[in-house]
Amino acid sequence: MKTRLLCLAMLLLVCRPALAQEPDLKRGAEVYQYWCSACHGPQTGTPGTTALAARYKGEKPAVLDQRTDLTVQTVRFFVRNAVSVMPFFRKTEIGDADLAALAAYLAAKRP
Ligand code: HEC
Repeated sequence: MKTRLLCLAMLLLVCRPALAQEPDLKRGAEVYQYWCSACHGPQTGTPGTTALAARYKGEKPAVLDQRTDLTVQTVRFFVRNAVSVMPFFRKTEIGDADLAALAAYLAAKRP
């Protein structure tokens, strides 16, 4: 029993700094590459980039990770709620920590 408690205490000590860390932008970029870039990347014919180019007509970059107006809240909303042909993403696909990293990555480009 004492050993178990000791293990738990050590685990908490080891994990706490990680839990308190700022969202991980490098991880955010990886999540973006994996789940979003197929539709939002710079390649021609991608549904996300095509739709956003038509909507903003040059007012904003069509490629999502070149935008400087995205907030953490906006990214979270679309990822969890979907829009048009964009699916929503479940927590089993993009977990909360990954979503925090992804949203921070996209919002970090704000001037
Ligand atoms: C299957 C293709 C597809 C995938 C995958 C996809 N999207 Fe989208 N996304 C779209 C399309 C298409 C739109 C534009 C919908 C419309 O016409 O309003 C869009 C719109 C958005 C918008 C709103 C932008 C705006 O200015 O209205 C955000 C934010 C967004 N996507 C984020 C993401 C993120 C983050 C991911 C990855 C987790 C992702 N999308 C994955 C297709 C996709």
